[in-house]
Amino acid sequence: MASSGLLAGKRCLVTGGNRGIGKAIAETFAREGASLALVARSKDKLEEVADSCQSQGAAACEIYPFDLVNTGDIDSLAKRILADKQVDVLVNNAGIMDGLIINVGSIAGLEPMKSTPVYAASKWGLRGWSLSCYDVSRDDATRQAHMFGRLSADVMATASNKLAGKWCVVTGGGAGIGQAIAETFAAEGASIALVARSKDKLEEVAKGCKSKGAPQVETHSVDLLDLQALDKFAKSFLSSHKHCDVLVNNAGMMGQGTPTEGDISKWEKCIQLNLLAPMALTHAFSPGMVEKKEGLIINMGSVAALEPMKSTPPTDIAEAAMLALRTSSACVPSEITLRLTLSAAK
Ligand SMILES: NC(=O)c1ccc[n+]([C@@H]2O[C@H](COP(=O)([O-])OP(=O)(O)OC[C@H]3O[C@@H](n4cnc5c(N)ncnc54)[C@H](OP(=O)(O)O)[C@@H]3O)[C@@H](O)[C@H]2O)c1
Repeated sequence: MASSGLLAGKRCLVTGGNRGIGKAIAETFAREGASLALVARSKDKLEEVADSCQSQGAAACEIYPFDLVNTGDIDSLAKRILADKQVDVLVNNAGIMDGLIINVGSIAGLEPMKSTPVYAASKWGLRGWSLSCYDVSRDDATRQAHMFGRLSADVMATASNKLAGKWCVVTGGGAGIGQAIAETFAAEGASIALVARSKDKLEEVAKGCKSKGAPQVETHSVDLLDLQALDKFAKSFLSSHKHCDVLVNNAGMMGQGTPTEGDISKWEKCIQLNLLAPMALTHAFSPGMVEKKEGLIINMGSVAALEPMKSTPPTDIAEAAMLALRTSSACVPSEITLRLTLSAAK
């Protein structure tokens, strides 16, 4: 992704910033000119990532070796981090359990592109849905957990196999970003349920997930435009496994059209797949997460909402969205494009 200095003047706190996705996020932020604060346990690895971030353009890079399992000490960590500078962007990358909900949103939800208002509408909606769900569950104690990524001791104890024993449902898992997520989770020991329409592609990805280390892999050929089929899948998954630990709402499509032209039936499909299907799957799987007090829901977005297209002048709406981004949420313009709709540390 070309750098546009999107995060110049911003201070970004990345937990788990010493390897894997956290490292990728930190380096991507670095290329956008951010000032970074990295939290993780291993000082050596943090130093390596800090060097790499500096060489890629970070304005500054501080490291905070810290074990996030020590939730009692998180206040003092926060005070040190916030001593004389605010945090503009918080990425709770290390925290994936204990009720932490990470919603991966869309750049189109923040920076609508003139050519894709339907797509942008679906991603805006998804962002609103994500934020509202998060707000509903928030109280002081959980907010702290959300902000600093509290991890279960057992998860941390097996840090290189973080998702062992977990079932991850990945929609759109037959290609692209969904495939990459599924394989990454597989490498962390998760069992994977891949959902998409094309059976052949799903089988191919399933092989890859098995070879990466997933103990169990299932493929579900489901058209998520069909709410009944979606419901049937969710019920059959829950009846087999009782619980979904991680839901990745990744399947998505572009919706062509503008206010003056286009086929509304296609708009409906875009909203259905990008917004209603994630909402319906959240509805199906989140009660179990709430009951277990543990779960992760990732809603996939688009880098275009964070990286204004040079050919598309910002609109008033985009300006308002960028303001919201600065004040209330964290963003990750990475190759995988994570949009984390958690509140920024205040
Ligand atoms: N790639 C990018 O540059 C980019 C940029 C911004 C945002 N995103 C977002 O990232 C997500 C994934 O993008 P991608 O580029 O990885 O997509 P992709 O390569 O086109 O893969 C899309 C996946 O979704 C599945 N899918 C599509 N329609 C479906 C339906 N009706 N029911 C069930 N599954 C369906 C596809 O499988 P079948 O066709 O077999 O069903 C495929 O597995 C999307 O939400 C997209 O909006 C991507």
